[in-house]
Amino acid sequence: MKEKIENIKSQAMAEIETISDLKLADEFRVKYLGKKGELTSVLRGMGALSPEERPIIGALANKVREQIEESLQNKIEALSAKQQDEKLAAEEIDVTIHGKKPQVGRLHPLSAVLDRIKDIFIGMGFTIAEGPEVELDYYNFEALNIPKNHPARDSQDTFYINENVVLRSQTSPVQVRVMENTKPPIRIIAPGRVYRSDAVDATHSPLFHQIEGLVVDKGITMGDLKGTLEVFVRALYGEEAKVRFRPHHFPFTEPSAEVDVSCFVCNGEGCSVCKGEGWIEILGAGMVHPRVLKNCGIDPEVYSGFAFGLGLERVAMRHYDIDDLRLFFDNDMRFLKQF
Ligand code: PHE
Repeated sequence: MKEKIENIKSQAMAEIETISDLKLADEFRVKYLGKKGELTSVLRGMGALSPEERPIIGALANKVREQIEESLQNKIEALSAKQQDEKLAAEEIDVTIHGKKPQVGRLHPLSAVLDRIKDIFIGMGFTIAEGPEVELDYYNFEALNIPKNHPARDSQDTFYINENVVLRSQTSPVQVRVMENTKPPIRIIAPGRVYRSDAVDATHSPLFHQIEGLVVDKGITMGDLKGTLEVFVRALYGEEAKVRFRPHHFPFTEPSAEVDVSCFVCNGEGCSVCKGEGWIEILGAGMVHPRVLKNCGIDPEVYSGFAFGLGLERVAMRHYDIDDLRLFFDNDMRFLKQF
């Protein structure tokens, strides 16, 4: 029996050398040390031994089991370490390799300038209003004191969906919609797309953007309009910037003015940007016509207001020194990536 146990030991020790992975190690354990394993079956035969031999064989068997267990454990540890090394090697990260540069989007120059303008007016207590781009003739013209056949319709010829529905030619219809639904005090700006049936060139596009402004309250005067626009222009172009009002005519404001800002390139001296004028026209404005107030259910004897309409492309072109409006709409990345 002693011999048998020694045989098992040498056989096991030889076999252990050949184990090459953890699965084989487990099979080895079952074969030699398991309940039905070689060693166990030898020990089962111990009943046949004499009482003197039993403790000796028992001790030997235990010692061999311990030796096999220890060798197996060492083998398993070596195999695990090897496996771990292989895994690490396979997953190795080269931190010196160049990363993939993510494509970061950016704001379109028109959006960037619009955000800036919104910020300035929100800072003065204005809120943002919106209106539809497909608009009733009534809101775009009629309610703004521009009846059918009025000559002012000529300069704002637009696209007609039908006789009563147009693509809005200005953001001024938002004035009417807001006044119809809001009791004064009113203080809003309304940015958005507008349309005119103009041929495309460096300064004209059938689609462009305006920002309407409207303030209605008791006792609003032309002084409030001037002050508001001065604050706006200084915030946008710097403390040095000045505004100039030139008399003008809009059917829905009275009095009306075109408003220029001192050229921010030459500061009024005259240069190529302002074409020698020293001033750059940026918006139309005026005191809301009493008839427009009345059309919207606001009593012109109690309330007065001012309105203005600013061309976004114009401001952005001046802002970035862009000389062709079409660049805003071409979506050429070589252009857009510059902002
Ligand atoms: N809507 C006018 C235009 O498009 C601009 C404007 C707005 C003038 C508000 C006066 C008051 O020309």
